[in-house]
Order: sequence, then structure tokens, then C-alpha cells
Amino acid sequence: MAIRNIREEGDEILRKKSREVSVFDEKLSVLIDDMYDTMYQANGVGLAAVQVGILKRVVVVDTREEGEKLELVNPEIISKQGSREVLEGCLSVPGVHGYVVRPEKVTLKAQDRHGEWHEYSAEGLLAQAFCHETEHLDGGLFVDKVTEYIDNEDYE
Ligand code: NI
Repeated sequence: MAIRNIREEGDEILRKKSREVSVFDEKLSVLIDDMYDTMYQANGVGLAAVQVGILKRVVVVDTREEGEKLELVNPEIISKQGSREVLEGCLSVPGVHGYVVRPEKVTLKAQDRHGEWHEYSAEGLLAQAFCHETEHLDGGLFVDKVTEYIDNEDYE
């Protein structure tokens, strides 16, 4: 396990589309474990592989609520319900926070490191993380959809 370097806005890799994972091997497991370490070290709620420079459709999330630590390989949002405005940030855009509109509820399917499919229904922060992280896999950043930035000293 190791901490990997987090790519920041301006690094063109963040704008690239990540590729589907088809091989579920030890290398994938190491990547996922490193992503957890890197996310916790940075005190983040989610991290996509592209943020550590790997263009694979792999995400880790952990809201710190029970049952909400998840590894998502080839994640796909199946349905969204409702909308709400939430404050958001990103480990690849340090020091920046702004409001974005996100669904209230999200259902997502994804594989785990062994290739098994799972379906997850989420609301609140986990639903927000599902949307934010899957957007990373298609080259998106939350700043693309910010409606209003807040001054950093107002955060928390
Ligand atoms: Ni992010």
C-alpha cells in the first residue's frame, strides 16, 4: 500500500476519458488499496483513478458512515431522483468550494475488485460522491457545474 500523487486541475489527464476495466488482477487490487490510502491521507470522501494518473474506470468512496466505504469498478449510474444544491470540493482542485446541483437519490451499479456486480442505492453525501466520482471518469470536474463559489474562509 502506498500514497500516490494526486493530480491537480490544469493537468490534462483529468480531462481524459477513463477506460473500462476488463482484467481483475492483483494490479487492480493494489491500485484500489493505494487509492484508499491516498484518499484517507488527503481526508477526502472519494477518489477516482484518473486523479492518481491512471485512466481506468475505478473509484473509491468513504463517507465515514457505516456501510458507505465502497470500491466501484466500471460504475454506472442507473437512475437519479430529485435535485438539491450542495457545497462541493475536490482533491484535484484544492482550496476551492462551490455550490452544485446534485440529485437527492442515485442508484448505481459497479463491479468490485473481483469482478462481481453490485447495485447501490444512495442519498445525501454518498449520492453526491457517486455523481462527482463517475464524472471524473469522463473527464469532468465539479468546477464545470458550480453555480456559485464561496470564499474559502467561509468553508466549515
Ligand atoms: Ni474530485
